Amino acid sequence: MEKSFVKVPKMGPVIAIDGPAGTGKSTATRRLADQLGFVHVDTGALYRAIGFLVLEKERVEPAVDFVASAVDVARSVHLEFQRSPEKNPANRIFANGRDLTDLIRTPQVTMTASRVSSIPEVRAALLGLQRRLGCQGRAILEGRDIGTVVFPDADVKFFLNASVDERAKRRLIELEAAGSDAPSFEEVKAQIVERDRGDSTRAVAPLKKAQDAIELDTSQLTLDQVVATMEKLIVERL
Ligand code: DC
Repeated sequence: MEKSFVKVPKMGPVIAIDGPAGTGKSTATRRLADQLGFVHVDTGALYRAIGFLVLEKERVEPAVDFVASAVDVARSVHLEFQRSPEKNPANRIFANGRDLTDLIRTPQVTMTASRVSSIPEVRAALLGLQRRLGCQGRAILEGRDIGTVVFPDADVKFFLNASVDERAKRRLIELEAAGSDAPSFEEVKAQIVERDRGDSTRAVAPLKKAQDAIELDTSQLTLDQVVATMEKLIVERL
């Protein structure tokens, strides 16, 4: 088990769900949190919020150094989640009081989030917040390094995976449903491969399965099957 950087005691069970994009991780986590009455912490939204703010800053000051700018944003911004049941999604991310939820899913923010997430100082700046959110207990955190770095002491850990083709297919369906100008299958697949490469090869907290995580390949499973399998394992272990 890798070492945790921040020692805050857990006040209840914590579940860690890691894995690359397109494995059904986010939807499964949302559904599990609802069914179990747990808080859902989407840690990717934190990196996306930083990515969005850096891009916004770049528009005003184009010459500014990317890494310095990302570190500055990560250290100074106040990030928090709030639930707004009347909105979709209900789990909202706020940066300095501003709701960024509907602005952080564009392809440009997605790629920038991956870039900022490779900067060690950005990861360090977000670690305490993630740890505090989970330590309240009855929390499910999803991300890339939850079981390895943020909560090596999580009560149940999952690592979801799926073939690149299947993940690209799912992503394309999502993009088409969102009404965006759908790119080709090959373009979506290339972007997934590129993001996986960045997320898995970065020096700090790369995407990797914790030794004690339960690995689940979702390529051949429906979302209902994924959720049912995970829920059964969680109930057995808690
Ligand atoms: O899960 P997502 O696609 O919303 O995450 C956006 C980016 O943030 C992704 O490229 C990986 C990064 N990330 C990370 O490095 N560590 C996390 N715990 C969560 C996300």
